[in-house]
Amino acid sequence: MEIIYAQDNLNLGQMAARWVAREILVCPNLVLGLPTGSTPIGMYHYLTRLVQEGIISFAQARTFNLDEYVGLTADHPQSYAFFMREHFWSKVDLPNVNVNIPRGDVSNLAVECLRYDDAIQKVGGIDVQILGLGPNGHIGFNEPSHNMEVHTHVVDLTAATIQANTRFFPDSDAVPRQAVTMGVGNIMQARKILLLVSGESKRDILAKTINGPVSTEVPSSILQLHADLTVLTDIKLRVH
Ligand code: F6R
Repeated sequence: MEIIYAQDNLNLGQMAARWVAREILVCPNLVLGLPTGSTPIGMYHYLTRLVQEGIISFAQARTFNLDEYVGLTADHPQSYAFFMREHFWSKVDLPNVNVNIPRGDVSNLAVECLRYDDAIQKVGGIDVQILGLGPNGHIGFNEPSHNMEVHTHVVDLTAATIQANTRFFPDSDAVPRQAVTMGVGNIMQARKILLLVSGESKRDILAKTINGPVSTEVPSSILQLHADLTVLTDIKLRVH
């Protein structure tokens, strides 16, 4: 595991974008796993800038988003598809056919999960997976639990996640109770992982993620077992 420190949230976005840019320059047809949430917004902003400046291109890249809320259509302002269109897809030269995100608005979610895993397999798996860190240690929407799901699946969101995500909705009743998410297996099979962690409120969960026991109660702790994990954070960890 490599830990890289950013000065602040702004700097974290710039550093994450440069990190991804290096990967794209080396491998223009990269298969990239992508998160939503507050943390990666700066990264998307600076990646957009690098594309507009002609430094990098996503013309040959393929992307797979981690998750989507169940019950929201892609044009719902709180859907992750909407977020991605607003912050990234509509701003860069990534062809629509190369963009993938699970659908949460289909009648048969089990079939959708299989379709998504199949699509990931067909392109040979994820090369580089970018992750945010949930306040409870979730990665994608793999919530603390007694077990870990390997493949894409439907998950019941925990009260903590519903609470944390209420900030994007009119009230907590409006937050979907379920999501479709890549499994921990999908994430761990990525060849490289970049975990982005920003803000003091994530200090304890970051410490548990990188130094705590590997446990299904802290899903992000399994990342310790990945062979090529980079953690990029603006939280200065205390050295004991
Ligand atoms: C979103 C996702 C989540 C977020 C996590 C952190 O696609 O996979 O695991 O990365 O909830 O969210 P923020 O960045 O808003 O703190």
